[in-house]
Amino acid sequence: MTDWIRRDLKNIWHPYTQMKDCRKMPPILIEKAKGIKLYDDKGNFYYDTISSWWCNVHGHNHPRIKNAIKGQLDKLEHVLFAGFTHEKAILLAERLVKISPRGLKKVFFSDNGSTAVETALKLSFQYWNNIGKKHKKRFVSLDRGYHGDTIGAMSVSGVGMFNSIFDSLLFKSFKAPAPYCYRCPMGKSKDLCAFECVKALEVILKKNSSQISAIIAEPLVMAAGGMIIYPKEYLSKIAMLAKKYNVHLIIDEVATGFGRTGKMFACDHVNIAPDFMCLSKGITSGYLPLGVTLTTDKIYDAFYADYDKARTFYHGHTFTANPISCAAALASLEVFREEDTLGHVKGLIPMLCTYLEGIRQLPIVGDVRHIGMICAIELVKNKKTKERFDPKLRLGLEIYKAGLKKSIILRPLGDIIYLFPPLSIKKRELEYVLDATREVIGKITI
Ligand SMILES: Cc1ncc(COP(=O)(O)O)c(C=O)c1O
Repeated sequence: MTDWIRRDLKNIWHPYTQMKDCRKMPPILIEKAKGIKLYDDKGNFYYDTISSWWCNVHGHNHPRIKNAIKGQLDKLEHVLFAGFTHEKAILLAERLVKISPRGLKKVFFSDNGSTAVETALKLSFQYWNNIGKKHKKRFVSLDRGYHGDTIGAMSVSGVGMFNSIFDSLLFKSFKAPAPYCYRCPMGKSKDLCAFECVKALEVILKKNSSQISAIIAEPLVMAAGGMIIYPKEYLSKIAMLAKKYNVHLIIDEVATGFGRTGKMFACDHVNIAPDFMCLSKGITSGYLPLGVTLTTDKIYDAFYADYDKARTFYHGHTFTANPISCAAALASLEVFREEDTLGHVKGLIPMLCTYLEGIRQLPIVGDVRHIGMICAIELVKNKKTKERFDPKLRLGLEIYKAGLKKSIILRPLGDIIYLFPPLSIKKRELEYVLDATREVIGKITI
């Protein structure tokens, strides 16, 4: 153990980590990064196959983004955002409104994914209050959905492993079955599916819409819940239900936004007009923290009044619309255009599909799913019965260790291995990563 690691373990408590594990398997000290590679203090490198927690889009140390950050530092590093504003926030809001699904015209800034979600929940809640529908104060969310670790975001999440301990702290939300096609909660097979999970959601709405403020969902990919990729029709159908039952639709694009699914937003795969869209992570290409909640004029107008405490949205965060973060976000959007990032991703898809089909044939692979640059490989003890491995085996940890030996970062979600690389990944890098992943899975002997 190096001196740096000893000092890390003395004072630092890492997230999502049983710190006792760190004694046996200390964190890796990263000294620098370039492109999709992270370099440690011992001369090793790792492919950043999970985009440093689903954030990095254009690769590390990108000159365009770096220079934008440096340039902004020379002008203005931070300013309060009530009573004051700055150019980068104005420019970014204009750009976001331009590229977002129709109807989203107002931008509320915050500083991470959870705060973007909290903002949407509170805006939806207060909107109904402001227009006199005070009983509309509950939310519908999906089993296995994940929207962050703050109390409100956890209350509308359904990932037991993360939240169950805090259950008594959370407000109750209605839970609809997840569109988890491989393990259909409605007991259907793909060929017999008639979107029974949507019908179950409609039952909740029919009975309770007078109390419901909003439905919240991750579009097309339920990320932390297991990289569950669901049919586009499901998203269209829940958008229709939201309209039919007069409840808001909050689309959480924190993980899927900024090209991950092959389009700028996962929403762009379907023609929907959500009431709220939450963004973070990839917005700055993962360089700096920033959260955004977009909403409609209709919602904004319900708060717009002569000075009236009850109507005003009393909510904010210190680092709201941080100028350096906004500058990074603007530069990242420029890089999308200059490097034709979405075109590059499109070009990689055929090769990705071929490799994934190969991986599907491995004896412990139950399901393989992908959209854009997000891929998930679900491991099973028995391919036919879909029986899961015993969690006590800590298969995830074994995979993580085996991945590191091959210079790739695999942090499985339970028995689901996934790849979520920066969109700038080169063809030969992706080939290596897929080969290495196949080798890691192929060598598991449990
Ligand atoms: C869909 C989704 N929403 C919200 C969040 C929370 O974001 P943050 O970790 O920045 O609070 C995450 C984080 O993984 C996420 O995947």
